Amino acid sequence: MRDASPLRYPGGKWRFQAFIERVLDLNRLNRPHYIEPFAGGASLALSLLFRERVAEIHLNDLDPAIHSFWHSVLNRNQEFLEMLAQTPVSPEEWHNQKSIYARGSAAGKLPLGFATFFLNRTTRKGDGKSTRGSTQVNWSVASAEFTSIAAVSTYPVRTRFDSCASAGFLRTSSSTSTHPTIGPGAICISTHSPKLITKP
Ligand SMILES: C[S@@+](CC[C@H](N)C(=O)[O-])C[C@H]1O[C@@H](n2cnc3c(N)ncnc32)[C@H](O)[C@@H]1O
Repeated sequence: MRDASPLRYPGGKWRFQAFIERVLDLNRLNRPHYIEPFAGGASLALSLLFRERVAEIHLNDLDPAIHSFWHSVLNRNQEFLEMLAQTPVSPEEWHNQKSIYARGSAAGKLPLGFATFFLNRTTRKGDGKSTRGSTQVNWSVASAEFTSIAAVSTYPVRTRFDSCASAGFLRTSSSTSTHPTIGPGAICISTHSPKLITKP
């Protein structure tokens, strides 16, 4: 399966899919819950969910922008797709989305979530200025985006999303409140390492 995530991150953790499926098989884990403390684009979690190898995914990300993106895709999917259809890709729009993004949570979940997606897909890594879509791309990849965003919306009740530091999320996941206990029924895969907080 190709990258199932609408977001692009360097590295593409979905490439571990076959490996993780082997881990599930070897441990006789039949469609467990999948817990991912560093969701980002959640490419691996989505691959496993779409292939019905896990029953539910429990995602977490500390970044309010990433949380807003997933919250919007899961809870306001139709509005998100309409914004995708109506938003031009141009340098002016790139600056507009950048200013929405800069307002953070104050912008509101849907605008911030959409700006996060827009910038993720149009900002060339490294320069932070030019738009991939200024003249050439023109959402020519839009059909793939529509497909993956619409696909996620068919799994809303099986996708949970939290926004807290990974340690807190894992503590919650290890208790029985809203998350399954990590164990035979749930596998926790960490495909990122936490940001180090160093004392000044
Ligand atoms: C590169 S992405 C992970 C990619 C993803 N696991 C996949 O399958 O494609 C890393 C994410 O971890 C989040 N993150 C970094 N430190 C964190 C922490 N301490 N707690 C929670 N999330 C964190 C970042 O906001 C970022 O979105």
